[in-house]
Amino acid sequence: MVSETYIQVAPSILSADFGSLRQQVEEATAAGADMIHVDIMDGQFVPNITMGEVVVDAIRKSTNLPLNIHLMIVQPDNLIPSFIKSPTDQIIVHAEACSHLHRTVGLVKDQGNQVGVAINPATPISAVEEVLSLLDIVLVMSVNPGFGGQSFIPETVDKIRRLRKVIQDGGYSAQIEVDGGIKADWTAQDSVKAGATMLVSGTGIFNQQDTVEGAMGKMRGCLMGLGPLV
Ligand code: DX5
Ligand code: ZN
Repeated sequence: MVSETYIQVAPSILSADFGSLRQQVEEATAAGADMIHVDIMDGQFVPNITMGEVVVDAIRKSTNLPLNIHLMIVQPDNLIPSFIKSPTDQIIVHAEACSHLHRTVGLVKDQGNQVGVAINPATPISAVEEVLSLLDIVLVMSVNPGFGGQSFIPETVDKIRRLRKVIQDGGYSAQIEVDGGIKADWTAQDSVKAGATMLVSGTGIFNQQDTVEGAMGKMRGCLMGLGPLV
């Protein structure tokens, strides 16, 4: 008997109403989110500044879900300890932002937390291959990082497919997460068909057109029957 892989959905709090942050996190939690995606931007690696430790602490107090913490910051080593407060915190660093990626990955693993490495659209899969055996997650950026609400770059689908093959051929256990422009449509469906098992969605979940519950329902609905077979 074959079973479907469960697809995890991670609402990105970047697109939430920050005036009602606790409520928005609670709504995402109640709507069945698997984790909360938290975008940390430093104004150097990406042309934008978002939030730091204090706001992440507030988010953590609003939910029991794991936080999927996406560090878009240069040389994150010194800041990593301030973002790990719970055994369930997942830390994602960018391959392009770390001079010594192997060491940075080790810093997170030493804490016993899950670790991921993100790669930008122009960064080849080979940028993570030498640390792949250490990773829980490879985050494939489907937009250039820095802003919510951008359009999904279609070439990402083939990149996910190629990464999936590298992971399978090597016998690695890393999951593929996709971030940027994911909506309850072909962007989510094709990513999953190509091998992604974790989907980040910001404006797809937090928007004016729908409630968080309604948007989560549409996302789950469009994924039904699509999980890669294991
Ligand atoms: C972009 C961030 C994304 C962003 C996704 O730099 O890493 O997590 O919040 O937002 P959407 O889903 O609106 O593209
Ligand atoms: Zn992100």
